[in-house]
Amino acid sequence: MRPIPTAELHLHIEGTLEPELAFALAERNGIRLPYADQDELRAAYSFSDLQSFLDLYYALMAVLRTEDDFADLADAYLARAREQGVRHAEIFFDPQAHTSRGVPIGTVINGLARALDAAPEKHGITTRLIMCFLRDESPESAVATFESARPHLDRITAVGLDSAEVGNPPSAFREVYALAREAGLKCVAHAGEEGPPSYVWEALDVLGVDRVDHGVRSLEDAALVARLVADQVPLTVCPLSNVRLRVIDRLEDHPLRLMLDAGLLVTVNSDDPAYFGGYLHDNMVAVTDALGLDEETVRTLARNSFRASFLDEPAKAAYLREIDAH
Ligand code: HPA
Ligand code: ZN
Repeated sequence: MRPIPTAELHLHIEGTLEPELAFALAERNGIRLPYADQDELRAAYSFSDLQSFLDLYYALMAVLRTEDDFADLADAYLARAREQGVRHAEIFFDPQAHTSRGVPIGTVINGLARALDAAPEKHGITTRLIMCFLRDESPESAVATFESARPHLDRITAVGLDSAEVGNPPSAFREVYALAREAGLKCVAHAGEEGPPSYVWEALDVLGVDRVDHGVRSLEDAALVARLVADQVPLTVCPLSNVRLRVIDRLEDHPLRLMLDAGLLVTVNSDDPAYFGGYLHDNMVAVTDALGLDEETVRTLARNSFRASFLDEPAKAAYLREIDAH
């Protein structure tokens, strides 16, 4: 199976930090990691749930300190993504995970932007940036983060909501989403990964999201599925992530096909590929094999990714023609 042109819509740039780059940046910045070598670090990539992953994900970010670090991180992702068929990427970043360590938000955004600006020519990938708020931090911290990002909003397409879901419902973040919308930004939120269908309802009705990230637990609520189908709200599904974080027991049990059959606008994404065992095409191949998807279903998933993107209509049409020609 050749990689098909795809838009990646659920990708945490911090989740693309491979052990090799983590050690290189640690050395560059004079930071000691609590792992002897890359193999010992990789051996820690065994997760029991979302929180057990987040603990390592935040700890390893200690190596990201300078604009160059963020530029190198994003450039490494883009190079790998292109080999995996990615032609457009809407990339999450977690500013609070860096500002809380004393890294200014401008350092993060300028570093990422440097790599993203070079990406069309260097890697043949167009990009957008999505600024995520940490839902296990306070709503006030989210608002303060948004205000500190105002000088950089021309670089940001959307806001998102991530980190530990259960006990941190979307409705708490109503104010910052209202500010984002007033500023002309699009809105997405993680919901229905570990959290209940009610969190997906809140993301839709309280935050007014344009897309739901994960959303796999929506299937537990028939009225919610009907709503998502009627409004063709995209769901950014991450199959390998779901298995690694034990949202789903086995890939063979993944509800992706059920979701498509229900008429949901589903896309396939890699989430945190350095941690979950694969980038975008790896996810496509894994679900294709596990669920026995046919070629036309893979094309549908690729088409959905561009339809669900924040690209303008002419750009979407151009990418859809590439899929037809594939
Ligand atoms: N869920 C919530 N927060 C995250 C994730 C995820 O899958 N990845 C990085 N932050
Ligand atoms: Zn995610």
